[in-house]
Amino acid sequence: MTERRTGGRARLLLGGACAVLIAVSSVAVATVARADLTGPPGTTLKAAAERSGRYFGAAMGGDRLSDQGFLTIANREFDMMTAVNEMKPDATEPNRGQFDFRAGDAIYNWATQHGMRVRGHTLAWHAQQPRFWGSLSGSALRTAMIDHINGVMAHYRGKLYAWDVVNEAFAENGSRRSSNLQSTGNDWIEVAFRTARAADPTVKLCYNDYNIENWTYAKTQGVYNMIRDFKSRGVPVDCVGLQTHFTGGSSLPGNFQTTLQSFAALGVDVALTEADVTNASATQYAGLTQACSNVPRCVGITTWGIRDSDSWRGNENPLLFDRNSNPKAAYTSVLNALNAASTTVPGTSIPSPSAPGSVSPSAPGSASPSSPGSASPSTGSPGACTATYHLTNSWNGGFQGEVTVANNGSAPLSGWTVRLTLAGGQTIANVWNGVNTGTSGTVSVRNADYNGTLGANASTSFGFLANGSSSTAPVPVSCTSP
Ligand code: XIL
Repeated sequence: MTERRTGGRARLLLGGACAVLIAVSSVAVATVARADLTGPPGTTLKAAAERSGRYFGAAMGGDRLSDQGFLTIANREFDMMTAVNEMKPDATEPNRGQFDFRAGDAIYNWATQHGMRVRGHTLAWHAQQPRFWGSLSGSALRTAMIDHINGVMAHYRGKLYAWDVVNEAFAENGSRRSSNLQSTGNDWIEVAFRTARAADPTVKLCYNDYNIENWTYAKTQGVYNMIRDFKSRGVPVDCVGLQTHFTGGSSLPGNFQTTLQSFAALGVDVALTEADVTNASATQYAGLTQACSNVPRCVGITTWGIRDSDSWRGNENPLLFDRNSNPKAAYTSVLNALNAASTTVPGTSIPSPSAPGSVSPSAPGSASPSSPGSASPSTGSPGACTATYHLTNSWNGGFQGEVTVANNGSAPLSGWTVRLTLAGGQTIANVWNGVNTGTSGTVSVRNADYNGTLGANASTSFGFLANGSSSTAPVPVSCTSP
């Protein structure tokens, strides 16, 4: 099986209700869960999230490092941490070329010493800038931004799970937000991402923003179009962070899952990076968690604080724990939704040939082998893979399916193509983690750029949204490689 892993990272296997740490290296980057939807329900947020290969994170300020109440819950419930302010540009480079990582490192060290991974937040933003940026413009400011990214990323190179490379660069009407960075030229965002990739080739590079949860909202479309453009031109972007502030007048839109699916279909991970909900509505918290759990590439959820007393919008009491550290009703709704996840994050799951609702793997080798995505010669033989379909969600007039592609051979294979026959009336609307040809009848789906290589006994999956009734399952008729 495939497993997302970066060098020197400890690995957590979930066995029964307790997690067993089997290897810890000197680099204190924490855990990668191996998904197991058949395991017992998790009794903490992180255990419930890890069942499906996801994480559950929180944000903390440096002042919380001496707050035992906060630390106790953080340690028990969370496996990802974000610094509220301590890794922002004004904190890390107060004066030109003088970097200060003390506050960021204190959070990083505590989190990783307690088995958590860390999201870096953030490198380029219109707010919380170093004061000296205020007297710069044009190419001088552009150079300062590049130098800042290089300086901060060099310090954290190889240590973080992800960086929010650029934060909040869009206006509500879907165009670019006006800012001093935007005034350096429209290409400032892609320059930031290219700089970031060169500075740390392994960390995930995210674009992060708020009010991009509603699929039909202009700002969502603006960001979507930028990410689509970046992916088409090879600008290195790995993930989109949706802040998910359902506070300050915002609330959960009914189409949130469509938004997550649509971004994911561009070939990026998606994450809910700063979630909070006015009065901690249990319904909205359940809904946002379900939306993430239904989208394979939704990798995790972070709440912006832990207790209401930690919140930047504390007067809305928007978090999962009250001021006395007691879990609220919303906590239970999130826990239940995590435990009910139907999809696993690609690359984290144990292949399960007898997964509930699956049909038998198809007979191999009956389709013409053609996979435009696999230019390199295959070391597997044609027909070496199998495809297994299962239904992950359905509603009146539509459904969501997932196909697990497994290499059952002992040799690695490079590139795969699955042919799938849809029943009458079924049409595919959207495919992620794969590239489709055709939308009805017999459809072929080949690997995406990033999931074509399958080691011996490894598996991956692609997902799709379809119109029509789910009552007749689409039938995988073949899986071939290349
Ligand atoms: C907020 C912090 O919580 C506050 O302490 C600070 O005064 C302002 O920034 N979007 C973001 C976060 O990306 O960095 C913001 O954090 C909240 C909105």
